[in-house]
Amino acid sequence: MGTDKDTQTKYFNIFTDNDSIIIRRCTLEDLEGVIEVNEKELPEDYPYFFYKSILDNYADSFLVACNSSEKVIGYIMWRVEKLPSKYNLEFTNKGHLVSIAVLKNYRRLGIASALLNKSMLKVKNHNIDEFVLEVRVSNYLAISLYKKFKFKTHSIKNKYYRDGENAYYMTLKA
Ligand SMILES: CC(C)(COP(=O)(O)OP(=O)(O)OC[C@H]1O[C@@H](n2cnc3c(N)ncnc32)[C@H](O)[C@@H]1OP(=O)(O)O)[C@@H](O)C(=O)NCCC(=O)NCCS
Repeated sequence: MGTDKDTQTKYFNIFTDNDSIIIRRCTLEDLEGVIEVNEKELPEDYPYFFYKSILDNYADSFLVACNSSEKVIGYIMWRVEKLPSKYNLEFTNKGHLVSIAVLKNYRRLGIASALLNKSMLKVKNHNIDEFVLEVRVSNYLAISLYKKFKFKTHSIKNKYYRDGENAYYMTLKA
């Protein structure tokens, strides 16, 4: 778990509309806002208890971006999983990106990059050897974001999504 200092990790200003965005750890009060962003921006939605359990278990890497009215406009959440190592018969910890999204009006301002940067430092503290994620093969914006962070396509997961779309499984050594 982090400290109070962690609840305000980075500020930056968006001069185009004079709004001011803060990135900080998610709180229980933010969950409704996170769910709203998820439902607007992604076809996958999760029940409330799922978000709550990520917050309970991985609060340090569950971050939100809020505008000057304290409205959640973006979020990122991770979990840590024990998966077979690529190199031997051992199991190792992997940081699994559960979800990231930014509201359309706030895109291309570096918010997702800032969310990833800060949260990956926190996930690394969980003794992981790799960051892993799935992304729709058609989601070129997200793929381009992950490539910018040097994620590589490891494999394709066939019909990974409920609507039958394939996923790229992307990994990055921690
Ligand atoms: C993917 C997403 C989170 C990116 O958020 P963002 O705040 O706009 O991202 P950033 O401003 O940090 O951009 C980072 C990089 O992503 C890529 N990118 C983002 N938007 C892009 C666009 N419109 N065109 C091309 N590349 C784009 C670029 O590589 C960009 O780096 P650059 O600005 O240096 O070229 C956002 O588009 C989103 O919420 N999409 C819907 C939800 C989603 O698909 N989540 C991922 C599920 S796996």
